Amino acid sequence: MSFYSTSGYWDERYRWANDDEILEDTFDWYVPYAIRTSDGVMFAEGLGLREEILSLVPKQRSALKVLILGCGTSSIGEMMYDDGFRDVLCVDFSEQCIARMTRRQGLLAQTISPQATSSTEGAPPHPPSAAHAARGPIVRDGLRYQHMDGVALLEYIEAGSIDLIIDKAMLDASFCDNDVQKRYDRIAKLLENVYDALRPSGTYLHITSNKETGGSRGVLFRNPVLPWSNVSVVKLDLGTIAPPPHPSSAMNEALEFFSKPYWMFCIVK
Ligand SMILES: C[S@@+](CC[C@H](N)C(=O)[O-])C[C@H]1O[C@@H](n2cnc3c(N)ncnc32)[C@H](O)[C@@H]1O
Repeated sequence: MSFYSTSGYWDERYRWANDDEILEDTFDWYVPYAIRTSDGVMFAEGLGLREEILSLVPKQRSALKVLILGCGTSSIGEMMYDDGFRDVLCVDFSEQCIARMTRRQGLLAQTISPQATSSTEGAPPHPPSAAHAARGPIVRDGLRYQHMDGVALLEYIEAGSIDLIIDKAMLDASFCDNDVQKRYDRIAKLLENVYDALRPSGTYLHITSNKETGGSRGVLFRNPVLPWSNVSVVKLDLGTIAPPPHPSSAMNEALEFFSKPYWMFCIVK
């Protein structure tokens, strides 16, 4: 599993996708922010993450600077934007990831007509995919994707400028390095950058499958080198999800996958 900590692995994983796949497939590790029903409505009841984030930021979301660290192909940036966050920067150290997500925003911004999928001359007709069902453009100004390594955030971002940093499974991936010293150095540098990028009283949310709240993660965040003012943890218990009225088949699969509990560390500068 050591490969999870390398950008090369993630580049390979994100590389091959055609436009249909880019439009149709987002993938969320652990728990999604919310999921969409087959008619496109955002559904989050019982999922935990959306409620937790919105309860931290009940109002004035549009003015907050949000950084999604190690965004992958997660839909969290889009969904937070749709919930009123208007300054969302998604970063990843995989260039392929950022190319793919940037392409996705470009495709979403185009108007899709059913003719867009009509077969080329001579080719057998095929039904339009869900991604290519007719729809108007979806433009999310203020949602940006940028190639960036978390260990060098401050080369790109002004120190003390970010209100909220969200890391879902990013630090967990960094833990997957068999070289203990390298792992320790990298994680220390990542956290130092996160700390410095946040404004005073800014919040770092670390969503993890690691339940040792008193163990490695707890120790890590209570490290006196970085004087966080508060560290708390909540369990994202997904056991109570009631399916919405029109679940898509993808959503049914997702509901099964998300039936495990995860943890969210809420770490305040
Ligand atoms: C397990 S995936 C999680 C993706 C996404 N956050 C989600 O919840 O679905 C880990 C992601 O973190 C990215 N990543 C790992 N280390 C990183 C680092 N030092 N800086 C930026 N991105 C990193 C990887 O490229 C990968 O996309």
